Amino acid sequence: MSETFYVTTPIYYVNDVPHIGHLYTTVAADVISRYMRSAGKKVMFLTGTDEHGQKVEQAAMERGLAPKDHCDEMVVRFQELWRRFAISNDDFIRTTEPRHTAIVQKFMEILKEHGDIYTSTYSGLYCVPDERFWTEKDLVDGNCPDCGREVVRIDESNYFFRMGNYHEWLRKHIEDNPGFIRPKTRRNEILGFLKKPLADLCVSRPKERLHWGVEIPFDSDYVTYVWFDALINYVTASGYGVDDEKFRSFWENSTHLIGKDILTTHTVYWPTMLKGIGLPPPKRVFAHGWWTVEGQKMSKSIGNVVEPNLLADEYGHDAIRYFLLREVPFGLDGDFSHSALIGRINSDLANDLGNLLQRSLGMLDKYREGEIPEKPADADLGDAEKALSEHAAGTASAIAGYMDDLAFDRALKSIWGFIGNANKYIDSAAPWTLFKDNAQQKLDAVMYTLFEAIRHTAVMISPYMPETGHKMFRQIGIVKMKELHTVTSLDEWGALPGGTKTFRGPALFPRIETVPEIAKTASGTSSENEEKPKSSEKKKKGAKGKGKDNMISIEDFANVEMVAARVLEAEKVPKSKKLIRLIVNAGEERQLVAGIAENYEPKDLVGKTIAIVANLKPAKLMGVESRGMLLAAEDDSGIHVLTFEKDVKPGTRIK
Ligand code: MSP
Repeated sequence: MSETFYVTTPIYYVNDVPHIGHLYTTVAADVISRYMRSAGKKVMFLTGTDEHGQKVEQAAMERGLAPKDHCDEMVVRFQELWRRFAISNDDFIRTTEPRHTAIVQKFMEILKEHGDIYTSTYSGLYCVPDERFWTEKDLVDGNCPDCGREVVRIDESNYFFRMGNYHEWLRKHIEDNPGFIRPKTRRNEILGFLKKPLADLCVSRPKERLHWGVEIPFDSDYVTYVWFDALINYVTASGYGVDDEKFRSFWENSTHLIGKDILTTHTVYWPTMLKGIGLPPPKRVFAHGWWTVEGQKMSKSIGNVVEPNLLADEYGHDAIRYFLLREVPFGLDGDFSHSALIGRINSDLANDLGNLLQRSLGMLDKYREGEIPEKPADADLGDAEKALSEHAAGTASAIAGYMDDLAFDRALKSIWGFIGNANKYIDSAAPWTLFKDNAQQKLDAVMYTLFEAIRHTAVMISPYMPETGHKMFRQIGIVKMKELHTVTSLDEWGALPGGTKTFRGPALFPRIETVPEIAKTASGTSSENEEKPKSSEKKKKGAKGKGKDNMISIEDFANVEMVAARVLEAEKVPKSKKLIRLIVNAGEERQLVAGIAENYEPKDLVGKTIAIVANLKPAKLMGVESRGMLLAAEDDSGIHVLTFEKDVKPGTRIK
């Protein structure tokens, strides 16, 4: 039986629409799945949605919907996006499905039978948005160490899991298995965390505080803590308790891909929960970095949330898939910018890859009426042909290692090394001279070598850019010969059959010569929910300029039209905690929406003269249109709206 490979993404909260951060993990999981399938492994790729808990309940309430109805609507946004980006998941789990809630309850029962669950009155510090308890010493500047927001003290009776009992076991497991937590920096982070005593984990929430969860099987007054519920999705979907053979075969080769912000839940809570019910930990947990956008944290109030559908409309999904995995080593933080994306499309995709195919097809049309010559005899192969075939074999084996290691960027770099070499081979072999000199045999050997190099390239890029790979197979005439599309077919140089007819199609990636509209304005968001900042990066907020030296020109500055505006009316946006709707006189009357309700009473704003950005693309926040953005500074004590020392005429330009 072939070897198994099980890969998962986090299950995404349905409190919001998907963004580029969600897309990133899902594309990475898709690429590794496609590669492993192509290399002959039996793959299971799981993604899904996390539908319980306070965040989702609150988002549903804000939209005036029952939680399940809200989830049913939101889940489609994720599923459609994955289809659009050619995501090849084998299963999609929703935590509200009965197949999952049954396993969550089973976990709870087993832990209870093992004596790992007890009740206690808890008095602790709780971060409401993150739904996590913290101890005094965990706090950073008195706030949640994960998201930087305020914590509240809560006293209540709850169920606890004896996580502390597994402290030493976990520490040893991490020490003994260097590949368990990747990259190494994250492993060190958790080993550091485990130097402190490990507290037990509160795994219930009283229904009087939160209804939307899986009921505790032995106490109907409680639901399970959302993370306890969510983590179990990984074993539900792989067959635990239903098809144990399937489960075991996949579980022993399991990889959880996650973002660095959810490391503790996956490498402390999860393995100890599994240990508690007698299951081994997953084989590996890989935490990737976070994306900023043009140097800034992604946030709805800034209006820079990158909406994957808009990117796909503009650039096509394959280019985005390529960019995300090529731009930054998996594990490090990255910065998204349209200029970097366009740069990659023009140089790597249009120039290097696109030209290799177009030039070769053009020459084959001209010299051989578009037909691939027979495989050359060894005697017709010179050093250059041999070197190219050896480079192909070397690249295939290097990428096997990089893929095992999830080093996507390095795999792509080595594929592009090969593409560069194939382009150089054209220049040095100079088929046009061979044609002119009527050196038929040599010309055939060169053209065959070139097209076999293109086939190898198409196979190697296919996991990253499946549509492009498919187009290449079509253009070189082997779209139906599936056996020539697999990673395993790269073991043989010369599998491409002679006599195959090629079809010259449109350029794979036309160069982008004019900057598209989307790159001139905000990156675009279609969400109408208000901002929910959540990363520990909050403190790192602060705009970086576009230039390498962090400077912008006076013209760049002049592009931002800032004016003084007098607040005429202000009121809270219904059902929103943070948003205030303002009518201002900015030379002319306009409506703004600002996320300042936690710091300002609407009536206190009326009559103030504030500073606004007047030429920002209109955006909707919770269904209310905002035409402009007020300027404010946020520090530890809250948000401070920028006002003027003396009265300024509304509409006066700020320079
Ligand atoms: N529901 C939990 C996960 C439960 S898994 C058992 C959750 N969901 S989430 O929707 O808030 O986030 C999902 C993932 O998106 C996380 O891995 C997080 O790191 C990732 N990202 C969110 N914003 C991101 C960026 N700006 N950049 C990269 N990834 C980011 O947490």
